[in-house]
Amino acid sequence: MKFIVETRNVRKVFYTEGDKVEALKGISVQIKQGDLVAIMGPSGSGKSTFLHILGGIDIPTEGTVILDNTEIFKLNEKQLAKFRNQNIGFVFQYHHLLPEFTALENTIFPALLKKDKNAEKKGRELLKQLSLEHRINHKPSQLSGGEQQRVAIARAIINNPKILIADEPTGNLDSENTKNVLNILKNLNKKFNMTIILATHDNFVASQCHTILYMKDGLIQSGNSDEKVK
Ligand SMILES: Nc1ncnc2c1ncn2[C@@H]1O[C@H](COP(=O)(O)OP(=O)(O)OP(=O)(O)O)[C@@H](O)[C@H]1O
Ligand SMILES: [Mg+2]
Repeated sequence: MKFIVETRNVRKVFYTEGDKVEALKGISVQIKQGDLVAIMGPSGSGKSTFLHILGGIDIPTEGTVILDNTEIFKLNEKQLAKFRNQNIGFVFQYHHLLPEFTALENTIFPALLKKDKNAEKKGRELLKQLSLEHRINHKPSQLSGGEQQRVAIARAIINNPKILIADEPTGNLDSENTKNVLNILKNLNKKFNMTIILATHDNFVASQCHTILYMKDGLIQSGNSDEKVK
């Protein structure tokens, strides 16, 4: 069985002005290729911190992250950036769109980095699927929170990443758009065997996933399959 995502004893300590926060206290998980995983748990339990480390966006204090047979924190900065662009799509909890660029430009940015000639066509198509065809030339400040969130999702999936990591991708959406986004994610998961890991507070979203991991106080408490939580 191939695990496309594996972490071993991942710990993260944040130091802030004399204060020390142990956000992750030793997380070891194994996720199969093609899995659709929800990470649930109370606010502050470490979901975002864990996803940032899984996506190579933040560095663990200790521990190992192996994505698709690559130990990502052994790569240098340039190699890691390339690995991320080619293999990982990331949807941030707070979107992080580029403020000076339109919805379409934000969406196609990762595809342009990859020199994809069909970037614009793909971007328009994705934004249409996400019901944003009337907003493609708007800048983030001219979009609602939910619209920005959908642009962030389009940007994360434009390169058809092997692994999609999404931090509360439906956190700002109404139930119709939540269902729409879930359908898009489920289709990508099925069609491309894309491995998807998302954090959510929404029981409906979690119920649509294949595996649920519960976080509490910087630890993963349990999953619905013994195989996946070691
Ligand atoms: N950059 C940072 N510096 C210091 N402490 C941090 C930092 N980022 C996160 N933390 C702390 O680490 C803990 C975990 O935060 P994290 O954002 O991972 O939680 P979360 O589970 O994603 O919460 P939410 O459901 O509210 O998004 C919290 O106690 C938080 O205050
Ligand atoms: Mg969070």
